Amino acid sequence: MKLQGKVAVITGAASGMGLAMATRFAAEGASVVAGDWNAERLGAAVKQIQADGGTIVGAQGNIADQAAAEGLIEQALNTYGGLHILVNNAGVMDYMQGVGELADDVWRRVLGINLDGPMFTSRRAVQHMLAHGGGAIVNVASTAGLHGGAAGAAYTTSKHALVGLTRSTAWMYAKRGFAVTPFVLAPP
Ligand SMILES: NC(=O)c1ccc[n+]([C@@H]2O[C@H](COP(=O)([O-])OP(=O)(O)OC[C@H]3O[C@@H](n4cnc5c(N)ncnc54)[C@H](O)[C@@H]3O)[C@@H](O)[C@H]2O)c1
Repeated sequence: MKLQGKVAVITGAASGMGLAMATRFAAEGASVVAGDWNAERLGAAVKQIQADGGTIVGAQGNIADQAAAEGLIEQALNTYGGLHILVNNAGVMDYMQGVGELADDVWRRVLGINLDGPMFTSRRAVQHMLAHGGGAIVNVASTAGLHGGAAGAAYTTSKHALVGLTRSTAWMYAKRGFAVTPFVLAPP
């Protein structure tokens, strides 16, 4: 088991890739805090992974909310006594609006979830990890984090900025025990 003894926080863990990662991390021996705002799906995911023998707790909340985001890190420290891996996976699409059509609420929602959330969790995680020998942070980006034609203005901006946050974090802390990487999904 590759992750025995490791503690991981995974955001957006109730469906899609976040659920797949939570399932695999637990199967590999990690103790997992699974964050998601969908209480029903999160409860079902946690129940299934526990039934399969995994160590996992769920934390329901909106990742765009600072207290909820930081609460995921606190839950890992309080429940498992540490944190080694943070996966910022939770994210939402926009409506393919160019900047000329972009609605304010779409801009704020997408930037809040896709960018503010990962910054809140990363900041708190790095503060803990720096005092404990480092850690690993994976930020789930997108081909829209590298190119302009894959989504609307809000999503594209959020994922470009997430790649920037990743690069900054990697550069700032690489020599202090950190591995920080963007996971960029490209079309087949
Ligand atoms: N699916 C794709 O083709 C694709 C392509 C490129 C990038 N991505 C990125 O991969 C990541 C995961 O995508 P997916 O396709 O697995 O998505 P998904 O919609 O299947 O899962 C996302 C999960 O995040 C949760 N979530 C959304 N907003 C949240 C919030 N504010 N607070 C807490 N939880 C929240 C949802 O409830 C859901 O369980 C996202 O960051 C997405 O932008 C996906």
